[in-house]
Amino acid sequence: MRSRDDRREEATLSRVTVCRGCCCGTVRKFPDVDHSAQLDRLRAELAGIAKIKVVDDCLGPCSDGNVIVVKPQGVKPIWVARVLTDQVVADLIDWIRSGAAEPPASVPVIPPYRKSR
Ligand code: FES
Repeated sequence: MRSRDDRREEATLSRVTVCRGCCCGTVRKFPDVDHSAQLDRLRAELAGIAKIKVVDDCLGPCSDGNVIVVKPQGVKPIWVARVLTDQVVADLIDWIRSGAAEPPASVPVIPPYRKSR
């Protein structure tokens, strides 16, 4: 059971939602990417900085996979696209570790996806 301090600390973490739906994270669509290693790296390098949630429902913009949504505290979610190379993962991690203010040009950002009704 988590302590009150643990819960308080967790509440200040950025949220990182990693899409692993029908396309993101699949070797069928992105055969040259080690998706498990990518997720392991995010978890290891963002431990204590961001709470990582993996979702298996498609977030929507499959053509921009792998999609990751970063939600720093007090800031609107930022949708990151094409997280497919070690360099993009490294730049994404550096950006989140530095507070996830304005994303660098090397982190491909897309408009928030809104599912139509
Ligand atoms: S599977 Fe990730 S956006 Fe569709």
